[in-house]
Amino acid sequence: MGKCYPTVSEEYQKAVEKCKKKLRGLIAEKNCAPIILRLAWHSAGTYDVKTKTGGPFGTIRHPDELKHEANNGLDIAVRLLEPIKEQFPILSYADFYQLAGVVAVEVTGGPDIPFHPGRQDKTEPPPEGRLPDAKKGSDHLREVFGHMGLSDKDIVALSGAHTLGRCHKERSGYEGPWTYNPLIFDNSYFKELLSGEKVVLHN
Ligand code: HEM
Repeated sequence: MGKCYPTVSEEYQKAVEKCKKKLRGLIAEKNCAPIILRLAWHSAGTYDVKTKTGGPFGTIRHPDELKHEANNGLDIAVRLLEPIKEQFPILSYADFYQLAGVVAVEVTGGPDIPFHPGRQDKTEPPPEGRLPDAKKGSDHLREVFGHMGLSDKDIVALSGAHTLGRCHKERSGYEGPWTYNPLIFDNSYFKELLSGEKVVLHN
């Protein structure tokens, strides 16, 4: 089933390609793929399929949304990306943050994700409470992802994104990575989960 995306101008499409290159450079240099992917996801994950509110429309950079508890630490990602965004005023923040997520997956060895530009920025941040809370159980996950229009399978597949990155005590209250290679996008989140292996940190 095809989705309809607004068509963007040739100039816009060129800016997307140029911006992609700059994002590759930044993400590789700073090793910041995990937090950039988390930004793209928290920006999109507020979408409510029934009311068609929330979602990846650039609002996450606003202080009101950044201060939602689930978004602790994401101001860092917004700040890291801003010098690149400034070079591409033609792009919406909505497209820009999703493009950054696509590049984060690509740079860490994950699949190439087709990118469809054309999102327009919204001004109104979504209400707090639309993102999953790690302290709650599976009923909560079903409810939260259900609002996004996503299924049990989607929850499981998407959780595999934790092949990247780690928890930071000062951001979520949790500490440490899920996998041995938190900067490589592969299947290790699932493999290590199923093998019952626990990541032990050695400094
Ligand atoms: C299934 C429900 C989910 C829960 C409860 C959850 C919870 C969390 C928590 C507690 C952290 C640690 C934040 C910190 O302390 O820095 C985290 C990090 C992260 N999450 Fe999730 N998450 C979920 C789904 C997802 C999804 C769907 C994606 C992307 C598709 C994602 C991508 C990430 C990434 C990449 C990080 C690492 C960030 C970093 O290293 O700075 N998560 N998540």
